[in-house]
Amino acid sequence: MYNQTLHQQINRDIAPLGLDIADKDNSFYARLIGNATNIQLLYRELYADHPKGKKCFDKLITTICTAYTQRSAALRKRDRTKLKDEAWFASNQLVGMSLYVDRFAGTLEALKEKLPYFEELGVNLLHLMPIFESPADASDGGYAVSNFRKVEARFGTVEDLQQLQKQMLDKGMYLMLDIVLNHTSDRHEWAMKAKEGDPFYGNFFYTYPDRKIPDAFEASMPEVFPESAPGSFTWNEEMKRWVMTVFHNYQWDLNFANPEVLIAMLDNIFFYANMGVDVLRIDAPAFIWKQIGTTCQNLPQAHTLLRLIRMCVEVATPGMALLGEAIVAPAEIMKYFGLGRYEARECHFAYNATQMALLWDALATSDTRLLLNAQDLLGQKPVGASWITYTRCHDDIGLGYDDAMIAAVGFNPFEHRRFIKDYYSGTYDGSPARGALFAANPKTGDARISGSLASLCGLEYAQQQGSKPLIEMAIRKILLMQAFTLFSGGLPMLFYGDEEGYTNDYSYLKDTAKSYDNRWMHRPVIDWQKNERRHQPETCEGAVFAGTQKLIALRKQLPVLRDESNIVFAGGHNRHSVLFCRYNAVSRVFFVFNFSDRDAWLTWYAFREAGCTALTLHELWEGKEYAVGADEEYLVVPPFRFLVFGEG
Ligand code: GLC
Repeated sequence: MYNQTLHQQINRDIAPLGLDIADKDNSFYARLIGNATNIQLLYRELYADHPKGKKCFDKLITTICTAYTQRSAALRKRDRTKLKDEAWFASNQLVGMSLYVDRFAGTLEALKEKLPYFEELGVNLLHLMPIFESPADASDGGYAVSNFRKVEARFGTVEDLQQLQKQMLDKGMYLMLDIVLNHTSDRHEWAMKAKEGDPFYGNFFYTYPDRKIPDAFEASMPEVFPESAPGSFTWNEEMKRWVMTVFHNYQWDLNFANPEVLIAMLDNIFFYANMGVDVLRIDAPAFIWKQIGTTCQNLPQAHTLLRLIRMCVEVATPGMALLGEAIVAPAEIMKYFGLGRYEARECHFAYNATQMALLWDALATSDTRLLLNAQDLLGQKPVGASWITYTRCHDDIGLGYDDAMIAAVGFNPFEHRRFIKDYYSGTYDGSPARGALFAANPKTGDARISGSLASLCGLEYAQQQGSKPLIEMAIRKILLMQAFTLFSGGLPMLFYGDEEGYTNDYSYLKDTAKSYDNRWMHRPVIDWQKNERRHQPETCEGAVFAGTQKLIALRKQLPVLRDESNIVFAGGHNRHSVLFCRYNAVSRVFFVFNFSDRDAWLTWYAFREAGCTALTLHELWEGKEYAVGADEEYLVVPPFRFLVFGEG
């Protein structure tokens, strides 16, 4: 709805900026006016009653306009190109990798030298794990940021980052960075000022003189790191107050109920946008709004905030997509794409954490029913938004899928989870997986899983045994997991090291800043001599690298893999396998996966059910032709193998 008063107010706010709204800056101005009513509505949902509500709204408009004026000509051009294909981020041409700059290459400067490595593999989007200043002894892998605009000295400088970004742009590569929205390090300037008693910054955080309110909050808040950081508040001696610290005790939660916090963080978001970030990973968005009597996760106001941020970004820096890192219950994750009139207008991306965890479930049990049952829900992802698909990331694997999902296939949820945890921590008799339990909570019995892709697939154990067949089986499992990730929809995000089959790195145990957090076991330091073995096909590195490279190349060849929510799963014809079809207006491709260590027999009827009408199929992974048999005849899929069938 058009709002003339607001229009006039905006004209007043932007007058000092000297924009050429009739010509050069017209499309920006049109976006601003077109979205202003929505921006104001969303803002008012949160701040209508706040004493600073009105003043901060003016600030918000100025922040948006300033961000636009500071956007370089090159980035404005890139915005225009991206806007021609609104869902540019859903392209099958994109393949990402997450990596730690220091552990992968040393510095940002050295990372530039590694760009040909990514080109060789086919990766063209890099997620650099947090690189902004963070205290070495209390950093949570960089997720405790003490300065959002200064690159940590050991990685280099902001200028190095800019140079890297330019070089990536020249090569047609994309950049993804994090904004840690929920909290700052206790050594961030805002926290330091709060400690000194500055009331303006004191209001940036949740601090209380006694336990009354903290106790009320904690009564309904789950613990995130029950082993290493129990509770959600930390006593600060300097302020003599309790501070909300949902994650580690050195990560202070920002108080977004204060509109000044929103403005300050939006300004940081635009700082990243104007450095050329293509995808902004919003860390832990589920936590950004707190309310006594709730879990303080996934609250409606958290969604309002994200929608507001999205609108502001669409106006000022429209080429930047947002990824909401919400690793929460399956039905809750879906809400981060936006609901109702905001469908596909909240986060462009969410992690498909449910699918990731269920892939590991299927691999441990050889039973794909849970994975298949979840597709009804996951298939509700709106067109115009996309998943990040992955097998591993820097975090643990949470078994966050619902008990009801487990019970629906006839398993006892408690026993089933216990089996998965025992299997991947290697304590289950006969399990080849070598991982560890993370954040085990004796009060609830919950635990998550750490471990690298290769170790969880059995490569570490197989190498210790020196067994060729076991090594071969582990490599098959690795490629099966990666194939599912690359083909099932969304932007695949590989985790560095997995493309060379890195097993767990136990050196973190010797470092006191890391030893309390076993997620470091799957965050390897890259050994470039070892990586050279990728050129020797008979080595594990060679086999895993070549397989991954081939999978990526195949993804890029298949236009049906552009994410348009264009996937149909066939029903459970064989409980060890999965069959799905990806399609577009001109073609169909069928993907079959066998999650067991025996042959899986699948009737050709399953293909017909998934839409297949062809008489012969071309298998694109091994390059063979298959005659489609009668309904009751079988396709035999070997253990831990996948097949890719093109029609016609
Ligand atoms: C996210 C990060 C995780 C970090 C947490 C707190 O979940 O992925 O590594 O510990 O946020 O910032």
